[in-house]
Amino acid sequence: MIDKILTLTSGGDAPGMNAVTRAIVRTCHYHNIPVFGCHNGFQGLVDKDIFEMKSHDVANCIQRGGTILQSSRCKAFFDAEVRDEVYAFLQAQGINGLIVNGGDGSFRGASLLASKGNLQVIGIPGTIDNDIVGTEYTIGFDTARNTALRAIDNIRDTGASNSIYFLIEVMGQRSGFLALDVGIAGGAEFILTPEFPISIENLVQQINAPRRKKQSLIIVVAEAGTPGRSMEIAKQLKQLTPFEYRACVLGHIQRGGSPTVMDREIGSRMGYLSVLALMQGESNKMTAIQNNQLVLVPFPGPEAPFRKLEDNELFEMSMILSV
Ligand code: F6P
Repeated sequence: MIDKILTLTSGGDAPGMNAVTRAIVRTCHYHNIPVFGCHNGFQGLVDKDIFEMKSHDVANCIQRGGTILQSSRCKAFFDAEVRDEVYAFLQAQGINGLIVNGGDGSFRGASLLASKGNLQVIGIPGTIDNDIVGTEYTIGFDTARNTALRAIDNIRDTGASNSIYFLIEVMGQRSGFLALDVGIAGGAEFILTPEFPISIENLVQQINAPRRKKQSLIIVVAEAGTPGRSMEIAKQLKQLTPFEYRACVLGHIQRGGSPTVMDREIGSRMGYLSVLALMQGESNKMTAIQNNQLVLVPFPGPEAPFRKLEDNELFEMSMILSV
């Protein structure tokens, strides 16, 4: 039986995390389960700095970007002794349910805590990268792609007015989900992702090929673990083609801002489900979207550390549509 629940947000923050926290707190209150929070992800647990959350503590936060609980990538939590201390602390507080809103690394940390015995853990996938194995959607992705798309539209205005070609770099550390979606929606001529890279030679050949005269050209580049890499690509293209280029790195702009309907709605449903799951005795599972349904699935295993784009049909389509 669940006595007390603690919730935290961990890793890179993502718009919609507040909808999740709000749903968890309010569902706990409905079921008379005391609910606690801590600041800065697992760091708050390491610091033994937790607080009880009342219904009014999550008032007026559903529309806010970032996370009111704050977040961090907590290195200390990799240490087994630190985790032992955290587990002992949770036991002493009578907390036997933990809900972690974050990425796969955060779920691994939660799972290690749960392996100590008297603790159930549920994860809620939150990252703008949408790259967690086992779910087709992660909280924050829709807001980030809409933010990036607005930026691309703005850049297209100036690119077309000055006949300048643009490389627009979007986030996506390991996968190209964000790049692909905004590339298609923004009418990009080329989309560079870690899964389907295009060599400079190939890019140059295609840009130099005879084609309809373009006022502007947009290349969406996924960051792919090397923030700023679009600058170097722009430099090379400048040398190898007769056009003028600018690179624009959208960076953390994509992580902020008021969450979209989708992030608030899915965030609310995932938060609600996570509490019900704990009440039903579930553990080591995460809320997920599969085939457009909200479900509960096991935490991703080590065999596939992150989700990748699998087929290149949409890349071909976007090239055909942008000719
Ligand atoms: O949260 C995922 C992400 O936004 C990645 O796309 C990006 O590479 C990374 O976080 C940036 O992390 P940080 O804020 O720690 O620089």
